[in-house]
Amino acid sequence: MGKKFVENFQVVQNTPLNSTNFLIKIQSEKKLPEMLPGQFVNVEVKNSSEIFLRRPFSIFEVDYSENTISLLVKILGRGSKSLTEVEVGTSVNIVYPLGKGFTKPEIDDKILLIGGGSGVAPLLFLAKESGLTADNVDVILGAKTSNDHINVNNYVSFANMHFTTEDGSLGEKGFVTQHSLFKNKLKSYNKIYACGPDGMMKAVAKEAKAAKLFCEVSLENLMACGFGVCLCCIEPTSKGNLCVCTEGPVFNINDLKW
Ligand code: FES
Repeated sequence: MGKKFVENFQVVQNTPLNSTNFLIKIQSEKKLPEMLPGQFVNVEVKNSSEIFLRRPFSIFEVDYSENTISLLVKILGRGSKSLTEVEVGTSVNIVYPLGKGFTKPEIDDKILLIGGGSGVAPLLFLAKESGLTADNVDVILGAKTSNDHINVNNYVSFANMHFTTEDGSLGEKGFVTQHSLFKNKLKSYNKIYACGPDGMMKAVAKEAKAAKLFCEVSLENLMACGFGVCLCCIEPTSKGNLCVCTEGPVFNINDLKW
């Protein structure tokens, strides 16, 4: 495990992206260490005696020149809701960078990124940091309706964006695994990366395994300490029961007991 830091960051931006997702940008006074796509930060939630002290969020963007980290915060409960109410200029305490990231793609890889919900954040960070052009990166993002999708225009130069919605209001109708790229062109990719709801990742993993493709998923198990101490994030794997916070959150699907 690389070095971890516990530090106060100043909130420099808090922008609602739709009714449930916020972009929160935080800034350090110090030079940031390198952070990898798939790694996360554990954010202290203040004024909350009854809620867990910290919440994990995947890193969405890092600007090393400004020393800022951007997080996509989706309101899932009281902890995340209270975080979306932080005001610009106030400070938040974070532990970072935590966990292991995705395997970095090679320059000639053809990769497919598949995300749903807050899984969008680490995948778009991976697209941006992969060093690949949009010719080699396709992204399929799934949601219930168009209102649940966030605006990802900043990423179009790094990837070809595709969408699915369950009601057909944006992109192709259905789940991500029903998208025409996934159904008809899966074998044209050599690496698949997925992050989102469990059911979605399991469906992606099943097809990737059948097609014998390299596939990594970023698990979203419940977490508290983020340090491998509380054991609330255990995942059974072929290497035994592992803490998702320290041995993951990214796993190769061949190591999971799915
Ligand atoms: S979150 Fe505590 S052990 Fe993983």
